[in-house]
Amino acid sequence: MSHFPIQKFRNLRTPFYYYDADLLSATLAALKEAAPEKEFCVHYAIKANTNPRILKIIADNGFGADCVSEGEIRVALDAGFEPAKIAFAGVGKSDEEIEYAIECGIGCFNVESVPELELINEIATKKDKTIDIALRVNPNIEAHTHHYITTGLKENKFGIALEMLDDAIAYCTGQPRLRLTGLHFHIGSQITTNKPFALLCEKINEITAQYSARGIDFSSINVGGGLGIDYKNPDANPIPDFASYFDTFRKNLKIQPGQTVHFELGRSIVAQCGSLITRVLYVKSGLEKKFVILDAGMTDLIRPALYQAHHHIQNLTSTSTETDTYDVVGPICESSDCFGTDEILPITVRGDLFAIRSAGAYGEIMASQYNCRKLPGSIIS
Ligand code: LLP
Repeated sequence: MSHFPIQKFRNLRTPFYYYDADLLSATLAALKEAAPEKEFCVHYAIKANTNPRILKIIADNGFGADCVSEGEIRVALDAGFEPAKIAFAGVGKSDEEIEYAIECGIGCFNVESVPELELINEIATKKDKTIDIALRVNPNIEAHTHHYITTGLKENKFGIALEMLDDAIAYCTGQPRLRLTGLHFHIGSQITTNKPFALLCEKINEITAQYSARGIDFSSINVGGGLGIDYKNPDANPIPDFASYFDTFRKNLKIQPGQTVHFELGRSIVAQCGSLITRVLYVKSGLEKKFVILDAGMTDLIRPALYQAHHHIQNLTSTSTETDTYDVVGPICESSDCFGTDEILPITVRGDLFAIRSAGAYGEIMASQYNCRKLPGSIIS
């Protein structure tokens, strides 16, 4: 059972994100144990949460970073991530972003197309710099997750199709300013079984064996992120099963001598340490339903509205031993602004504090000001 500092919450303006620093540290310790630095390079996917205090804790633990924009590189550097441990990914890097990343000396560009290679080559030549390149391959693997967060199918915009990889490799090897170091993959997010990862390993083995036979070897393989978390039972499973996730790669990926293996985990590192704390504005009776109307809405946590995600909802302050059934909704003028339907909760009254759990990943960072609302604040303890 999680312990929230409820007395401290009472006087704070809601909604806000609460981060449990001890849980984050315990998660990072578990991650380090399952993936020793000597064996695997883990880059935290900055997109999941850029709260400076969260970033600092992760950077202080020696992890690398996976960034997808100039802004993400800036916050990563500010937090103390080493430039050499930063991978710069993204399907649409702008000219300015490429220039900035080259100037910062970031470790590697994960590149998604030949036109992007051409632009990086042009800028690198102008700056007289040699750039490490990992080509992102679209392996056409079903990740069995929500279709909005599936990325490795051939209809997705991401990566280079296997059939077109030869061309991209040929382009790279012909340019003295580009150093082809690796291949990059990412099949999707919130993947809750290891099967898709095992299939990914098989696919990577096939690809690297084919190229090896032609005398092309890669010094790094980046398998992306995607490890899912338990949204239903955050208290029973506060730390993801990193051990079996990394074992899947140990068992299935044929790592060539001297090859480094990289991971880009976001959600699994930060999701469970964060909760959205919100107050009940009203309990409203409809003809068929009772609504708990919170002061947090889809502007503060968009995942339910965007991906039909469900986060565990907890009344932190009710002392009632009786329950009732409620739809738990926000104040935004959209019907999709709903955190849960037919939630069985202790009898709830105006002023109760609620926690929307497992909100540390893709929560605060995806907040918006729709309806001219203030962005949620945050506390960490
Ligand atoms: N690497 C790449 C290339 C990615 O595109 C992503 C996530 C990651 C790593 C990190 O994946 P993770 O370990 O966090 O699953 N907003 C959505 C998730 C979008 C994920 C985008 N890419 C959500 O709230 O579910």
